[in-house]
Amino acid sequence: MKVQFVDLVSQYQALRGEIHEALEAVMSTASFVLGDAVREFEEDFAAYCGARHCVGVASGADALHLALRALAIGPGDEVVTVANTFIATVNAITLAGAEPVLVDAKAPWYTMDPALLESAITPRTRAIMPVHLYGQPADMDPILEIADRHGLAVVEDAAQAHGARYKGRRAGTMGVCGCFSFYPGKNLGSYGEGGAVVTDDEALAGALRIYRNCGQSEKYVHPVVGFNSRLQSMQAAVLKVKLRHLDGWNEKRRHFAALYNEGLAGTDLVLPIVMPGAEPVWHLYVVRHPRRDDLMAFLKERGVFCGIHYPVPIHRQQAYARVRTIPEGAPVTTAEAAELLSLPMHPDLTDEQVAHVIESVRAFA
Ligand SMILES: Cc1ncc(COP(=O)(O)O)c(C=O)c1O
Repeated sequence: MKVQFVDLVSQYQALRGEIHEALEAVMSTASFVLGDAVREFEEDFAAYCGARHCVGVASGADALHLALRALAIGPGDEVVTVANTFIATVNAITLAGAEPVLVDAKAPWYTMDPALLESAITPRTRAIMPVHLYGQPADMDPILEIADRHGLAVVEDAAQAHGARYKGRRAGTMGVCGCFSFYPGKNLGSYGEGGAVVTDDEALAGALRIYRNCGQSEKYVHPVVGFNSRLQSMQAAVLKVKLRHLDGWNEKRRHFAALYNEGLAGTDLVLPIVMPGAEPVWHLYVVRHPRRDDLMAFLKERGVFCGIHYPVPIHRQQAYARVRTIPEGAPVTTAEAAELLSLPMHPDLTDEQVAHVIESVRAFA
């Protein structure tokens, strides 16, 4: 039996009719850039999140970068984020011209440790960027409280958390804005690249629309230096179709996570733990094992394909060799990185496949 890490082919086959119809509608009107398809998806996704505005952009990386630009964060400013994330989170800060400061993760959740935030804040800090990693929201209440006390913006990296909730609130709607990625393997994925920022702040949404469109406020009027970072209409059409299925897919992910939790209990794997008040959407099902590489190779031999998120922490990357970490060296993130393993997780798994993964892990133990 083969168990793929993600399976986008099965998903496409199931949606074929709906997707082709949506793409045909875009092609037959030749409205390829910022047309009705983008506006309609933006409306639908804002409503889904419970936000007033959604601005589609070219990628999740751009969503983060442009959000900082639109908040006028740049040279001389610092933005506090986490050491345990995908590098695009940190790149967004650097590309905006600001300086990233990385706080460590809080065990057992892998997300930002709010207790470290105060010592990361300086007079230059302008924003905090928590990451809802693996589909589990960061512990937002203390983060929002600290941000409020220091007058800082909270920009959520919700790239892995479409539909997740924290104490009833959707990921992406707790800070001043939330940034999403629609990379194909995400819980809501396009057929290429895509991203979006959701916000209740009308002025911020307006600034984002200018930044994503070459800095243009109206035709040939450019108040700022902007980017070509528009969400493509073909991608918006695909996303509008797929959004209708997101809750169902997230429910399936929850089901498979529950099967893993039950089947792997009592093994020497460290299993994921849900934070009180959090409703994760299981973008990834991440375990830890001291012999991670051996386990991964063993599973591969049995047709089980895993991933690692992320094997090399940001502060161990050449690009960020001199980044400030809190505390120095981000010891939790650094130690955990050697043990992390992401088991197959996607809505098109079957109970039999999950059983095969569990049996294989147990055979290794
Ligand atoms: C946590 C996180 N932030 C940002 C990004 C960047 O998104 P994109 O790949 O759409 O640029 C990703 C996904 O790749 C991510 O997982």
